[in-house]
Amino acid sequence: MADIGKEVQRAAAYLTQGELVAIPTETVYGLAANAYDEVAVVKIFEAKNRPAFDPLIVHTHAVSEVKNITREVPDVAYLLAERFWPGPLTLILPKAEHVPLLVTSGHDSVGVRIPRHPLTLDLLRQLPFPVAAPSANPFGYVSPTTAQHVQDQLGSRIPYILDGGSCAVGIESTILALNGNEVEVLRLGGLALEELEEVVQISKARIKTSSSNPAAPGMLSSHYSPRKKVLLGSIEENLNLVDPARVGTISLRKNFPQVPMEQQIQLSASGDLGEAARALFSALRSLDEQPIDLILAEPMPEHGLGRAINDRLQRASFQG
Ligand code: TXA
Ligand code: MG
Repeated sequence: MADIGKEVQRAAAYLTQGELVAIPTETVYGLAANAYDEVAVVKIFEAKNRPAFDPLIVHTHAVSEVKNITREVPDVAYLLAERFWPGPLTLILPKAEHVPLLVTSGHDSVGVRIPRHPLTLDLLRQLPFPVAAPSANPFGYVSPTTAQHVQDQLGSRIPYILDGGSCAVGIESTILALNGNEVEVLRLGGLALEELEEVVQISKARIKTSSSNPAAPGMLSSHYSPRKKVLLGSIEENLNLVDPARVGTISLRKNFPQVPMEQQIQLSASGDLGEAARALFSALRSLDEQPIDLILAEPMPEHGLGRAINDRLQRASFQG
C-alpha cells in the first residue's frame, strides 16, 4: 500500500483550503467539505447537482465534538453513541447556531455521524472542523462503495479521492430522528433494526420506508436509481414477461438458466445479508453497463440488512 499518512495529509490540506475530498466510510464514500465553510459546502451541491432542500450529514470523530455541532444531546443519543459509534448510524439532533443553514437545508436540526473507517477517523482527528458529506454520487444515482465508483462519476469535478478500499457495510447509514428520547427511523440503513432494538424501543409506526415517507428531506422515492429500469419481484415470474437475453438479474443466490451468466449477479451464495448489502450497489452499477434493457431484482428476507436492501431496491425501482 502507498504511504497512508501522506494521503491523509493531502486530504486534510485540500479540506483546509476549502476544497472537496471524497472520503471512505464503512457505509459508502462521502463527498466532504469543511462543514463551517459555506463556500466549500456550496461546492458539494454543485458537484453532485444536489438540490438545496436535501440536507447534509456532518461527520466527526468523537462524541465530545458532537456537543459543538448540536444544541442539546438527549440521554438516548448518548446510549446510542456509546453502543454504535463509530458506525453506520446518523442521529438528527438540534443544531448549534454556528452550523450553517446551508448544511441543514434550513432545518433547525443537523444529522451527525461518527464513521468507522480508520483513514477517515485519522483525517477527522487532524482537522479543526467537522466535515459535511453526502454520498459521493451524482444526485439520485447509486451511492459509491469504491474509490473507482467515485472516480468514474465525479473524478473530473473533485480534486482528491482518499482511497480506503471497498466499503465494509456497503449501504448508507441508518438515520434516526430523536425528539427528546423518542426515536423515529427516517432511513433504514447499515445498522439493522434488530441491533438498534437492543438499546432503544422502536415502534413499527415510527419506521419510515420509501413508500411511507416520500416527502421527508432527501428521501425521494426515486433515489438510488441506476439508469436502467429495475423491476422488483419474483424473477421467475417476471422472466415470463421479457426477453431473458436482454435482462440482468440480482438475487440472493438463485440463478436462472435462460439468462446469460454474465448478466446474473448473486449477492451472497451463503445467503448472508451483510455480504449482500456490501455487493448491492456494485451490482446495480455493473448491470447498468451491460447490454440489457431491464434489471430484474428479487426482494430479500425482511430481517437484518435485508430491510435496508429492500428499501434501496424499492427506491431504485420506483417509476414516478
Ligand atoms: O452512510 C451515510 O449516511 C453516508 C456517508 C457518506 O456518511 N451519507 C449519506 O448522505 O448517505 P446523503 O446525503 O446521501 O443522505 C443524507 C440524508 C438526507 O438525504 C436526509 O434524508 C437526511 O440524511 N438528513 C440529513 N440531515 C437531516 C436533517 N437535519 N433532518 C432530516 N433528515 C436529514
Ligand atoms: Mg445519497
